[in-house]
Amino acid sequence: MSNGTQREQWGSKMGFVLAAAGSAVGLGNIWRFPYITGQNGGAAFVLLYVALVFVIGFSVMLAEIAIGRHAQLNAVGAFRKIKGGAWPIVGWMGVIAGFIILSYYGVIAGWTMAYIVKSFTGLMDAAKAGTAADFFVGFITNPGAVIAWQAAFMFLTIFIVYKGIGGGIEKYCKVLMPALFLILLVLIVRAVTLPGAGAGIEFYLKPDFSKLTTGALGAALGQAFFSLSLGMGCMITYGSYLGKKEILPGAAIQVCFIDTAVAFLAGLVIFPAVFAFALEPGAGPGLTFITLPNVFAQMPGGMVWSALFFLLLFVAALTSAISLLEVVAAYFIDEMKWSRTKAAFIMGGIIFLLGIPSVLGISGAIPKLAGRDFLDSADFIASNVLLPLGGIFIALFVGWFWTDGAKQEVDNNGAVPFSLYVPWLWVCRVVAPLAIAYILITGLKW
Ligand code: PFF
Repeated sequence: MSNGTQREQWGSKMGFVLAAAGSAVGLGNIWRFPYITGQNGGAAFVLLYVALVFVIGFSVMLAEIAIGRHAQLNAVGAFRKIKGGAWPIVGWMGVIAGFIILSYYGVIAGWTMAYIVKSFTGLMDAAKAGTAADFFVGFITNPGAVIAWQAAFMFLTIFIVYKGIGGGIEKYCKVLMPALFLILLVLIVRAVTLPGAGAGIEFYLKPDFSKLTTGALGAALGQAFFSLSLGMGCMITYGSYLGKKEILPGAAIQVCFIDTAVAFLAGLVIFPAVFAFALEPGAGPGLTFITLPNVFAQMPGGMVWSALFFLLLFVAALTSAISLLEVVAAYFIDEMKWSRTKAAFIMGGIIFLLGIPSVLGISGAIPKLAGRDFLDSADFIASNVLLPLGGIFIALFVGWFWTDGAKQEVDNNGAVPFSLYVPWLWVCRVVAPLAIAYILITGLKW
């Protein structure tokens, strides 16, 4: 609903948790987490990641939801309404991060759509012939095809955002999230029983702390923020559609838990397969698209499994992309008084165009920036700089500048005491800002 007469709301707390989990669970868990883990040495990185999720990630998530529910506004409007001054800049940074992330997110999500179709048209043959990597590179360096898939994906995203909050998303997530979980479980069984899988399990689960670099710290934090959809006001926006009686800490912990479980399970599929097929765990963004077809090709009915997997990856990406566009759209709807239709189509269209350089960078039409192609650069700037920076200010805001209001939100005006309130407050006040700032300053390795 525009113009604040009657703001739309989730049907239930479960609806919110599923939508927020739908936002959190996406390409970040299944595509990004395994390759970032692979690039950063495996198990020790996973431990560091989980610790960051539950200490810093959870705290920032609760802070964001509290701000959103209190203000009942988009990320910029929420800061303006609660405190004003320079604070709305934090929301603004979030809107910009939303533009940047969705621009390349739509490209990768387009790959997943293409792979649904390709599962039936040559992907399995390529995998059986040992050429899944060439098949993948051949596809992503063909800008015409990739842009067409990106356009299709962006159109769907725009369409759902234009349709509004309630209706589809909740119902949709309730069925599709458990389905994703089930498929992952089946794939784990196949992957861990592949001959040679043991080395992958060891790489993934047996920590070797000598592999942890300061770069790994930054990567783990960036991944935590990206995966949990934090630092850019997404949870502020989603929290703004939440009713006053819902209990926030429980919802935040559930979202963190679901998100981490899905990422963890995705790694249990990918790493055994990477090692079984003698691929390189640090191979980068192609990892999922190259390793998994090899696994599917070894399964009876492989093409169906493959199509199903990429379908679910596509759905996970869609529920995240919706939330990215919603951050941007909610700003134009609340603050600029645009209609939802105008906000969704115009901003979605601009974001689609912004994604095209990412496509062209991969095909070599745009040169790399000091070793990173355009997509990788956009991802680095958003995930490793903008999101953590947003996280610092959100934590400081709740910890020092809006403490009483935040307390009332997290314990529903004293009605439902939050047992971890004091530790949470100090994480927001000191631990999160210092840790994030330290990691940002020391760990930013281009
Ligand atoms: N959390 C999503 C993922 O893991 O794929 C990506 C994302 C969505 C990041 C929404 C940020 C955001 F606001």
